This record gives sequence, C-alpha cells and structure tokens, in this order.
Amino acid sequence: MLRGVALYLSGQGYIVSVIARRKDGLTQLEQDAVGMSGRIDPIACDYSDSTALRHAIDSAIAAYGPFTLVVAWTRESVPRAQGIIAKLANKAAVESGATPCRFFRVLGSMAGDPVRLRLGKGAEFKAEGTRTIEAAFHQALDGIAYREIILGFRIESGVSRWNTHEEIQSGVIEAIERDPPESIIGAVTPWEMNPRLRAGR
Ligand SMILES: NC(=O)c1ccc[n+]([C@@H]2O[C@H](COP(=O)([O-])OP(=O)(O)OC[C@H]3O[C@@H](n4cnc5c(N)ncnc54)[C@H](OP(=O)(O)O)[C@@H]3O)[C@@H](O)[C@H]2O)c1
Repeated sequence: MLRGVALYLSGQGYIVSVIARRKDGLTQLEQDAVGMSGRIDPIACDYSDSTALRHAIDSAIAAYGPFTLVVAWTRESVPRAQGIIAKLANKAAVESGATPCRFFRVLGSMAGDPVRLRLGKGAEFKAEGTRTIEAAFHQALDGIAYREIILGFRIESGVSRWNTHEEIQSGVIEAIERDPPESIIGAVTPWEMNPRLRAGR
C-alpha cells in the first residue's frame, strides 16, 4: 500500500528505511529505487518482536542519523510498534538537537468512527489493555510533529469501496507535501457506508 510512497521519497533524495519481514519484497523495492537521488534502506524485521524492532531502528539511526520523517502503518494487532518507533525517532532528534521529526501515523477506517473523533485521538483502540499502550504512544509523541492520516472509503453510484493503493499513495504524498495535522483519504462519512460495517466486521 505504501510502496509508492517509499519510492516517491527516494526520488526526493531521502534515504528511506523500510521495514517488512520478507527479504524478496524489500530487495525488489531497493532495486526499483536504483538511479534515484535517494535510496531504500531495507530492514528485514518483524515489528511484533519489540526487541528486534528497537535494534533495527537504533541501527538505522546510527547509520544515517535521526529520522526527519516517519510514515507509519502497522497492524492493529501490534499496537506497541508505532510507540516504539515514535519514541526512538524522538529520542534521536532530541539528543542530536535536530529538528523534531514529522511523524505521519496512517490509521485504518475505524479511526474515522464519529465516537472516536468526538472523544479524541486516544480512543481508537478498543481492545482490552490497549488504552494504556495508546497513552504511552501519546507520551512518546512529546516533541514530535504528529500528523494523522485516516484511510477512509469511497462512494461511487451509491456503493462504497476501499481506496485503491494508488489513491492511498497519492493521498499520503499530498499529506507529506501539504503537511496538515490531520487528513482523510477518501471519506469517513456517512459513517454507516463504511465497507467494514457493511461487511458486518
Ligand atoms: N481504507 C482503505 O481504503 C484501505 C485500502 C487498502 C488497504 N487498507 C488497509 O491498509 C492496510 C495495509 O494494506 P496493504 O495492502 O499494504 O497490506 P499488506 O499487503 O499486508 O502490507 C502490509 C505491509 O506491512 C508489512 N508487514 C506486515 N506485518 C508486518 C510485521 N509483523 N513486521 C514487519 N512488517 C510487516 C508487509 O510486509 P511483509 O509481509 O514482508 O512483512 C507489507 O509490506 C490493511 O489493514 C488494509 O486493510 C485500507
């Protein structure tokens, strides 16, 4: 989904550290960026292993310096991962006196739930115990330039559908370029048209 964003940033001259488990996909991405002004730094790591994730982020910072920009999507089943990334990115920026990094958190469509939007950003994880993790995440954000991107849905001829990868990539690139604190790719209203609700999930 965010592959095109990694290539866009590489084309803009960034060294883009990309985390995924499968080495073949990372190698292909790295090759696709050859000849661009920046490049892909492939990190083969399972972010559900917190120790491995910390080590991977620390190594990338040691090699290339503090992050200036983070685009983070992780599975809801691993809520700790984003807090770990934010905390290390922030720590490195503070220690080096660098400009705080911009942290774009990419959230699924359920983050557009009108109840969450009313209650505030800490309320999106409903699973037991994850509120504490969410609170820790927001602590880790202290000093970080936090941005939120919600992946909504599209309505065409009265029928709702998910965004395509291309729509997501151009929405994320637009958010990086225009830099609003919050953006929605597609729409989250009318809420009852969310395909996830309509599928009964
Ligand atoms: N609202 C919308 O319109 C919309 C549209 C499309 C997608 N989405 C949502 O966006 C999410 C991502 O979609 P996608 O198509 O990009 O999914 P995907 O193909 O499963 O990609 C997820 C990426 O994360 C990596 N990954 C997954 N688990 C990992 C782990 N434990 N450690 C490290 N890397 C991990 C995967 O690489 P490896 O497998 O190599 O680890 C892959 O690069 C999904 O939740 C999907 O439902 C929403």
